[in-house]
Amino acid sequence: MKIKKAVIPVAGLGTRFLPATKAQPKEMLPVVGKPAVQYIVEEAVQAGIESIIFVTGKNKKSIEDHFDKSTELERMLEEKGKIAQLKEVQSISSMANIYYIRQKEPLGLGHAVLCAKQFIGDDPFAVLLGDDIMISKPPAIKQMMNVYERTGVPIVGVQQVPLADVSKYGIINPSNKKDDVYHIHDLIEKPDLEQAPSNLAILGRYILNPSIFPILETIERGAGNEIQLTDGLRHVCKKDGLMAIELQGNRYDIGDQLGYTKAIAEIGLQRPELRSKLLTYFDQLLKNEYQKKELIK
Ligand code: UTP
Repeated sequence: MKIKKAVIPVAGLGTRFLPATKAQPKEMLPVVGKPAVQYIVEEAVQAGIESIIFVTGKNKKSIEDHFDKSTELERMLEEKGKIAQLKEVQSISSMANIYYIRQKEPLGLGHAVLCAKQFIGDDPFAVLLGDDIMISKPPAIKQMMNVYERTGVPIVGVQQVPLADVSKYGIINPSNKKDDVYHIHDLIEKPDLEQAPSNLAILGRYILNPSIFPILETIERGAGNEIQLTDGLRHVCKKDGLMAIELQGNRYDIGDQLGYTKAIAEIGLQRPELRSKLLTYFDQLLKNEYQKKELIK
């Protein structure tokens, strides 16, 4: 069955990125000319998603404004003959059918997904986290949709992470790998290194079906006193089975200051008009750093 709907949760508080996120959503932080969340919507649209629901919260109005039509701005750009910018601005508001629902309190990612229950109805759906940029061809969520359409089994996107980082992620216990696709035996949220069954970490991409909703409605609150999506996925795994695909492409967690800085550097390098100037700049920067080290010695 084709996936046509996506949920993008953006209601988190972004505490890892304070004070930048005190009055603005982390999902709207610019990453080389466009806000982070636009990359995520573009990924969904390129994969064939037609309808998107944002699960929003307080201080997130600028996300709605960004994807809305901006009549005054469009008129001004037209009057000034800035046609390229006009077309770009218009394309943002016509990318997909976009809907919004408020998560009244940030009670966790599982709770945020549950907020989309009425919108989803009986259809399988994609979940793309609003602070996880994936740069890949084909789009990461499309890689997952291809597997789901073949198997009908819910699937999570994973990538290998350094062993030192396993305690930051949900980690899968995989079995039966075939063509980058695993069956999941079990999963564990933020394990200690000794307990981690692998270094395959769940990233911010999921294909689920509505059977997750009754589970999310009834599970106990987990880590951080929040309704955790990973806890819900453990039930899905035991009940109906769950798969994982090792995603091809580069992933940036822009909710983390290092991840955000890397995203700007690497995505900047992919832009033809910035690439050579940036390379010259990085080259000089590194030479300066080496010189400083030599002086310290
Ligand atoms: P994170 O855990 O990375 O977001 O959730 P956070 O809670 O904003 O982060 P920190 O730890 O305080 O810095 C991943 C995604 O899920 C959304 C977030 O907005 C983010 O896009 N989310 C998280 C919700 O929509 N609701 C929640 O209750 C929690």
